[in-house]
Amino acid sequence: MCGIVGYIGKRQAYPILVGGLHRLEYRGYDSAGVALLSDKGELNVYKAKGKVAELELVASEKDCSGTMGVAHTRWATHGEPSTKNAHPHVSESGNLTLVHNGIIENYVVLRDQLKARGYHFQSDTDTEVLVQLIEYVEQSLGLSLEAAVQTALKRVIGAYAIVVLDRRSPNRLVAARKSSPMVVGIGEGNEEFFVASDASPIAEYTKKMVYLNDEEIVVCERGHELRVCTLDNKDVPVEVKNVELDLTMLDKGGYPHFMLKEIFDQPSVLQDCMRGRLLPEHGRVVLSALTDHRERLVSARRIVIVSCGTSWHAGLIGKQLIEHFCKVPVEVEYASEFRYREPVILPDDVVMAISQSGETADTLAAIELAREAGAFVFGVVNAVGSSIARNTHTGTYIHVGPEIGVASTKAFTGQVCVLTMLALALGEARGTVDAAEYRAVVEELQQIPAKIEHILEQNSRIETLSKIFTYAHNFLYLGRGWNYPVALEGALKLKEISYIHAEGYPAAEMKHGPIALIDQEMPVVFIATHHQQYEKIISNMQEVKSRNGRIIAVITEGDEVVKKMVSEYIEVPETLSCLAPLLSVIPLQLLAYHIAVQKGLNVDMPRNLAKSVTVE
Ligand code: G6P
Repeated sequence: MCGIVGYIGKRQAYPILVGGLHRLEYRGYDSAGVALLSDKGELNVYKAKGKVAELELVASEKDCSGTMGVAHTRWATHGEPSTKNAHPHVSESGNLTLVHNGIIENYVVLRDQLKARGYHFQSDTDTEVLVQLIEYVEQSLGLSLEAAVQTALKRVIGAYAIVVLDRRSPNRLVAARKSSPMVVGIGEGNEEFFVASDASPIAEYTKKMVYLNDEEIVVCERGHELRVCTLDNKDVPVEVKNVELDLTMLDKGGYPHFMLKEIFDQPSVLQDCMRGRLLPEHGRVVLSALTDHRERLVSARRIVIVSCGTSWHAGLIGKQLIEHFCKVPVEVEYASEFRYREPVILPDDVVMAISQSGETADTLAAIELAREAGAFVFGVVNAVGSSIARNTHTGTYIHVGPEIGVASTKAFTGQVCVLTMLALALGEARGTVDAAEYRAVVEELQQIPAKIEHILEQNSRIETLSKIFTYAHNFLYLGRGWNYPVALEGALKLKEISYIHAEGYPAAEMKHGPIALIDQEMPVVFIATHHQQYEKIISNMQEVKSRNGRIIAVITEGDEVVKKMVSEYIEVPETLSCLAPLLSVIPLQLLAYHIAVQKGLNVDMPRNLAKSVTVE
């Protein structure tokens, strides 16, 4: 949450910083700000409530010169979204300016101590404490900027990624991180440096990137090698990575929203996800993580999946896949619950963390707990080089390219695709998968992208359908077996972007409560494809129909039974039961998208949400 960007170099900083903020707006978008050290040596700070475009309006008639600056797009934690709470925050003397992503938990104590020493606070944020504390330490102990940052951060409890600019020191930016992501890009000849919450604002300028680890600080000084050190000032070897990002993934590519583009990306990115892993010529799945750690993974007595949000739904499908193909018990936990409830973790457990962003605070904490307990930790992550990717023992990237729309779509199908390949490969290694079924799934997986393409052809039909339902205040989503997690995911998509209350339920549970809600106002989405307990789902549909509920059914192509029963249906191609979620979720993504668009809402940046949840 919150996006930060810093630049120091030869170019004008403002376009780089604001361009970077646009790329990071998925992290938060309730206010934004920029600080620039102008060509005349003045520190100019501009802020605005709202999106980055509002900041650009504010800055449009101001002096935006300067080759060094920091910028921020905010997702409010402490203090409402407003100009005064927007970052950057400036120290008492006006010398230091700082942007921050994270939460300072002991900020009240620190603020009171600083107030008692004459410091004044302009905002309601926890962040302002940091910039004042660094200044206090610097002045009272006579320290250099980096030493003051080191000393101040030792007094801080919480999470931070910060960039600090000192107007008296025009050649250096200092940054640091703990539990919040930060990457530094190195320009030609160390003449320029970029600091950001992820690689997306940097990728168009340089491929040479350094990912900071917890409690490391970095000094970016024009014309000098990058220096990374600990809070105790011990040098840390600088590990430069060559990061390739497909920049076309960062643009809407002609679509009105990132979300729609990402839904339509699915056929091609799932090919990327399977490339080199699903080998059609051999009819096999080969995952390097499994090759490298075969013994540890094969001997797992239990797999515990930890994740949040959409990734948790993918985990529920992963559980069914792994239990089916590998005959290993799997538990699926919300990372936020797991981390605090003294879970029993055994050394022969494999803990699997699923995360699109690779930065989710609760999932990271769950990993830490699992590692401390001696479990082997496997990551299923999209963001290359992210904290989760780096804190797991091994893992498999989903490789679906950056996902910008806050509501996850292609990352979900990518996660399910990886979990399918993993279940197949692990099942083969354990000798628990039936050879004929293995071959059939490998073959059918290859058909999935084309089948998704076919569903996407119904986009305008789904758009028309969506117009009927914009009136609704509540929705119910029902599915069973492989399609039960899809019901949860369909409901989550709708509430995230359309602000319509939606519940997902296992269809059979309807009679234990939700049926009381059904009347002619209540749309009920049934995922009723031709798989397990199909007949029972049809009975559930009859129950809703006889109570005048409005049914939308996702059905297998050519299902005349359901077509005769309901007027609103969306057809998906036939597939194997275990692959059903990869198809049945697509119409639900489109339905949520179109309902939100009909309601005139900002689908890519829904209110109150953020893409990367780096606070707990
Ligand atoms: C946020 C996002 C969701 C995502 C969840 C978990 O709530 O808006 O789309 O599913 O975080 O994120 P992760 O990056 O760990 O998958």
